Amino acid sequence: MPSTLYILNGPNLNLLGTREPEIYGTTTLAEIEAACVEKARGHGLSVTFRQTNHEGTLVDWLHEAHVAGAKAVIINAAAYTHTSVALLDAGKAITPPVIEVHLSDPETREDFRHLSYIGMAAVACIKGKGLGSYIEAIDAAAAL
Ligand code: DQA
Repeated sequence: MPSTLYILNGPNLNLLGTREPEIYGTTTLAEIEAACVEKARGHGLSVTFRQTNHEGTLVDWLHEAHVAGAKAVIINAAAYTHTSVALLDAGKAITPPVIEVHLSDPETREDFRHLSYIGMAAVACIKGKGLGSYIEAIDAAAAL
């Protein structure tokens, strides 16, 4: 059984902690990573946790998760959620199930955040719960 979760983070999420705290809170990405590793360990799963500001790198990492036989990919594609057909195509091309996560709830924000391309390739979307979105996504991935 595959036992690794890929948890991928897109642009500007490296700035969590100070980035628009009224929307995203003050939890840093390093704190999210630590909580994810801990939560996954409880399910007997390991975590490959990454962040990039580059769209193509996210595509490469989705391919890598496929080749590595990951159990699932949890992805916060950040702004690329709303723009990237390349991420949608990558999500459809790979075998590991994709779970979309967001700290905020894009549906309740500007209209341009209502469309999610990666969501069209995802088995679930967990949003609006801050760090809790990632934690719930790990529970969902473990249950797959
Ligand atoms: C986000 C929501 C996106 O609309 C936004 O572009 C982000 C973060 C979230 O986690 O709430 O960068 O994905």
